[in-house]
Amino acid sequence: STRITVRDIVKMKGREKIAMVTAYDYAMAKLVDQAGVDVILVGDSVGMVVHGFDTTIPVSMDMMLIHVASVSRARPRALVVADMPFLSYETSVEEAVRNAGLLMKAGADAVKLEGGGEMSDVVRALVRAGIPVMGHIGLTPQRSFLIGGYRRRGLSEKERDRILEDARELERAGVFSIVIEYTAADVAGEVTRELNVPTICIGSGPFCDGQVLVLHDLLGLTEHPPPFAKAYADLRSMIIKAVGEYAKEVKAGVFPEEKHYFYSKKT
Ligand code: KIV
Ligand code: NA
Repeated sequence: STRITVRDIVKMKGREKIAMVTAYDYAMAKLVDQAGVDVILVGDSVGMVVHGFDTTIPVSMDMMLIHVASVSRARPRALVVADMPFLSYETSVEEAVRNAGLLMKAGADAVKLEGGGEMSDVVRALVRAGIPVMGHIGLTPQRSFLIGGYRRRGLSEKERDRILEDARELERAGVFSIVIEYTAADVAGEVTRELNVPTICIGSGPFCDGQVLVLHDLLGLTEHPPPFAKAYADLRSMIIKAVGEYAKEVKAGVFPEEKHYFYSKKT
């Protein structure tokens, strides 16, 4: 089957909902792709769910490049979008193009960056370089220190107007889609109706062109998942049970069994 392109994602608006999920390595990318998602996001959430940081601030380009390369080796049918980590695109347009280019060389099909109209110059420069860009508005975790934590967005008239204007400016700058995070459902719906490019929502209600979840939340691996996440499995308890059984069998001398080993000569 042929690979999903940015063009395919744009054309899904109004026709078919877009299913996006994060993955950070080869094995999981293979599985989520086989499950049939449209977009795999190598999110900077990797810093929290894989590397154990409290925020996404410590995530570096080197970390992102390793995870993007790992996912890309799965050769998924799904579109691979790579998050631009904190400080890889804010200091200058040149640095943003260089870093986005590195993510593309590592195997990404597109990049995602946080921010609204103030990022227009960066988005334009990336698009000019041939790099498809996904926007990310509403709750932008890389700015959680500035906006006062992981707060719900779009509740006030001022914030609602800001989000709508940011979405419009990002579309004008050339993004092919926009993630809307932890934003009032009616506001996300308004953005969705207003834009020609698809919106992909997380914690922002059903009136969007698609949804995204962090894989570890979806699988029930996260100890304290956000309130908007849905766990479709309880892998935490499955893993604890399986590894616990293994440890017990080792201690009891039950594992390994005869089929798991060999001798140098007949005994
Ligand atoms: O890093 C991430 O996983 C994300 C999604 C929550 C949209 O940006
Ligand atoms: Na992210």
